[in-house]
Amino acid sequence: MKAVQLVKSAIAMSGLTLAIVAASSASAEAPLTLAQVSDGFDPAATYARSCGACHNSGAAGAPRLSDTEEWQARLEEKGKDQLLTHLIEGYNNIMPAKGMCFTCTNEELAVVLDYVLTESGAE
Ligand code: HEC
Repeated sequence: MKAVQLVKSAIAMSGLTLAIVAASSASAEAPLTLAQVSDGFDPAATYARSCGACHNSGAAGAPRLSDTEEWQARLEEKGKDQLLTHLIEGYNNIMPAKGMCFTCTNEELAVVLDYVLTESGAE
């Protein structure tokens, strides 16, 4: 009798454990799929760290952040999706892939691109 109870409670326990594992793995995955822009992601700081060296000075022909006309022209000619593709994959063998922010997700790079376009004054 005692043994049966033990087995029963062991089964109940393992069921509980499984439920906990299932619940915790679901919640561990959620941030990856739902929030690919991590909490506290700061596009201005990312720009300053990764992009500014070229895009503030215009080094190697990089469009300067302050150059509204240049960004406006690129945006109109190519559209934002194309600009984002060039940001992610690199462009013309001179704009480096991901703008050298290797820890950035593509979604975070999209946020940085929005920051660049807004700051430049392009619409
Ligand atoms: C090593 C220098 C360098 C760094 C670092 C860099 N860029 Fe660039 N980027 C360039 C140059 C040069 C061009 C112009 C390429 C051309 O038009 O031939 C460019 C072009 C671009 C374009 C326009 C692409 C197009 O299709 O016209 C975008 C958008 C861009 N950069 C975003 C970024 C962002 C965002 C970062 C930082 C995450 C970054 N870049 C970091 C050099 C750099």
